[in-house]
Parts: sequence; structure tokens; C-alpha cells
Amino acid sequence: YGDSDFVVVANRLPVDRDASDPDQEWRTSPGGLVTAVAPVMKAQEGAWIGWTGVADVDFEPFTIDGMHLIPVTLTNEDVLRYYEGFSNATLWPLYHDVIAPPEYHRTWWEAYVRVNERFAAKVAEVAAESATVWVHDYQLQLVPQLLRRMRPDLRIGFFNHIPFPPFELFAQLPWRDEILRGLLGADLIGFQRPADAANFRRAVRGRLGYQTKGSTVTVPDSGDLPGHSVRAEAFPISIDTPYLEELAADPAIIERAAQIREEVGNPKVIMLGVDRMDYTKGIRHRLKAFGELLAEGRLNVEDIVLIQIATPSRERLEQYKIIRHDVELAVGRINGEQADIGSIAVHYLHHSYPRDEMTAFFIAADVMLVTALRDGMNLVAKEYVACRLHDDGALVLSEFAGAAEQLAGAVLVNPHDIGNLKAGILEAVQMDPKTRARRMRQMRKKVRTDTVSAWSKRFLSELDAIRDSPEAIV
Ligand code: G6P
Repeated sequence: YGDSDFVVVANRLPVDRDASDPDQEWRTSPGGLVTAVAPVMKAQEGAWIGWTGVADVDFEPFTIDGMHLIPVTLTNEDVLRYYEGFSNATLWPLYHDVIAPPEYHRTWWEAYVRVNERFAAKVAEVAAESATVWVHDYQLQLVPQLLRRMRPDLRIGFFNHIPFPPFELFAQLPWRDEILRGLLGADLIGFQRPADAANFRRAVRGRLGYQTKGSTVTVPDSGDLPGHSVRAEAFPISIDTPYLEELAADPAIIERAAQIREEVGNPKVIMLGVDRMDYTKGIRHRLKAFGELLAEGRLNVEDIVLIQIATPSRERLEQYKIIRHDVELAVGRINGEQADIGSIAVHYLHHSYPRDEMTAFFIAADVMLVTALRDGMNLVAKEYVACRLHDDGALVLSEFAGAAEQLAGAVLVNPHDIGNLKAGILEAVQMDPKTRARRMRQMRKKVRTDTVSAWSKRFLSELDAIRDSPEAIV
């Protein structure tokens, strides 16, 4: 593993273990980053540096599904301050437009710096001369600059999987300038939407006074580092469409989808929500809208069920305990008031499922609900579309998910506006088959061209081109 030409760095490895049981099997890590980057990594030789999800245990490098994995150890205190603290109670809510109030603690920041240094040192150790290093997401925003100092020979790309907030919000962060400088150590910085890239460039101009022209930022000589130029632009991420299409055509999975339909009482309409249990996902808003539609008699519990899969996430954090509590209260209330013996209104599942079973859910669902209050992209929306091989099914999609800019055939909603959300759900449920087919066909076309492999090829070839161009050094 000591001499890799291509290195992916992310807080998590693509597989993790339950912290309470370090002897169990490796399983797929949660979240969109792993869904997107794992297929890229399986398709090429390289190494992936990240954390195993277990605190205080050193693991040796290992290989899984053809991916070479190099674990970085986090102590219990790192988990508390760097991962749960700065990454997920400071940056996560701040970058998602302060849906929950971000907390600022100097000890968390110190841990963030320390762990970013550890990741950068590991990369510097395993990357071959002139290797390409691709750093991922908000947990590691200092790694590009740290790495540039240690290993100026490397090509460094960074991709932010979550939104980058408007300048007025970002400016709250006590360490805003350090974060900007950290990112600017890269040669290419990718964001989900053009608006995220524009927010970043505006912050760079506003805070550091650097010049930008188009997507290019000019970073001046800083004493210890020579000046260079950085491109900051949008690379909307996607999914492994051919693989999902293959799963969706598998007779055993199709059979399972039919079985799920039977098991929930063979209703006229199955609606589905699939999210990590996170306050950014708008699960409460979706439940409220559904509950009101049932209460008003505009939907009938004998005709329709909602299956809500909410996979456990960041469970020790207060805001995540609160959202779980609120969701469970809402589910209980809707079922208590609207359901009957034999017809449950909401099937709520607080666990994660393997890929095959998830695909069966996507096939079984007539309407998919993605109602995030803010989301970098939302790959679940794209996965649902990819699984609709017969161009049927309707997607209700929040305007505040990056995917809304690509899936124009969805019923777009503002989840903050419960009236609008209810209207969107009704529209999707009642949409005539011809319109559904037309809209789904259009969306399927999009996910068939914009695959995750096209995304990574575009990012990596732009990264190559930047380093090869003579203007790269200012
Ligand atoms: C999102 C983030 C990822 C993160 C994932 C799961 O997709 O963009 O960086 O890994 O959520 O969250 P977790 O905190 O469990 O890694």
C-alpha cells in the first residue's frame, strides 16, 4: 500500500464496524459519499484512507471488493470533538443553512486540526511521486493545504458532498479563514451545485481578498507556499446507474418487491421515504403533510401506505435524538389517529437494509418522497429513478436538494410550506399514467447519462488538465 498513484481520502472507509462490537463483519458505511465513491474505487487501482467507525482500535490495511483500504485511528476524544463535535455539530448544521443551531467550541476546532493533520500525514506516507489525491467532504477541509505543504508534487482534488453555505452564514464560523485556506491547497475544488461553488468563491473574495475570474481563484504567494491557481466549480454527483438497473431487473428482487406489496396489505398506492435519520431530511414535514391529508379525507388509509425507512445516524448527538423522538411521536400519532386494524398508515423502519432489499423497496413504491430542507444532492432520488425500468412511478422532490436541478420531471415542492407539500403529494398520487411515464422517462434519461463514473471521469480529467497546464503556477 506504500506507493499508490491514486489515493482517495474520506473520513469514513467504505465499510465500517459497529463500535460496540469490533469483532463483527465489515458492512457498508452509511451515506451518499460511500454510495458514490465506492463504485469509482472498485473500477480502478488505488488506496482509500479513512476511519473504520470504531474508536481507539488500530487496524492494519486490508482489501475488500478489490478496494485497498488504509485505516486511520480516531481516539474516543477525537470521535467526540472532531467527528461528533466539529464535523457534525458545527459544520453540518452550518453548511445546511443552520436548520439546527451550530455550536462553536475551541476544543472541537483543535481536535479538527489535529485529525486533519493525521489524515494528511497518512496520505503523504502512502502516495507515490506525483500521485493524484482526491479528498472528500467537510470533515477534511484542511487536508488539501496541509498536503500541499508536505508533498508539493501531488495533484490534489477536493470534493464537497454537502452544500457550501451563503457567505453571510459561513462568516459565522470563528475559523472561516483557516477553512478557506485549507481548501485552497487543492488544485481543483468540486461542489454539487453552481450556487455552492459561487458561495465559496464569494467567501474567498470577501474574507481573503483573493481575485477570482470565472471559476478560477488566484492564490498569491504566502511565504511558505508559492502562489497557484485553483478551480472551484460544480460537479453534480450521481449514482452507479448500470448496476442499479441490473439489480432492478433481477427476478428475485422483483419477486421480493411483490412480496413487500402483499405484506403491507396490497394498497392502491405505496409511498416511500428513505433517509438517514437526520434533521436536514424533512421527515417530520413529510409526516405532517401525510397525516393532514389522511385527517382531511383527501387520502384514504385503505388505499395508501407510507413506508418510511430512516437509517440510524450519529445517534449520540442531541439534535439527532430530538429528530428521532419527533419522528417517532409523529408516526405514533398518525397511526393512532388514522390507522385501523389491518390498515397501518405509516410503516416506520429504523434500521438499514442491504442493497437488494432497498432495490425491492424502490420497485414496490409508486411514489417516492424526498423532502429535504437542504441537501447537497440526494442520491436516493436518483436511485429511485434508476430502478423504474418501466418508466412508472412518481417522484416528489424538494427544491432544496441538489438533485432538483437535474430531475426536472419530479414534482418539485417546498417542504417548509406544508400546503405546497400536500399539493405535491396529491399531484404525484393522482398523476395519470401517461404523464408519469413521460416525466419518468425524462428523468431516467438523465441518470443514464449522468452516471457516477461520468462524474469521476470529468473531475479527474479536469484535475489532470489543471496540473499539466503551464498557467498552474502563478
Ligand atoms: C453524508 C456525508 C458523508 C457521511 C454520511 C454518513 O452523506 O456527506 O460524509 O459519511 O453522510 O454520515 P456519517 O456521519 O455516519 O459518516
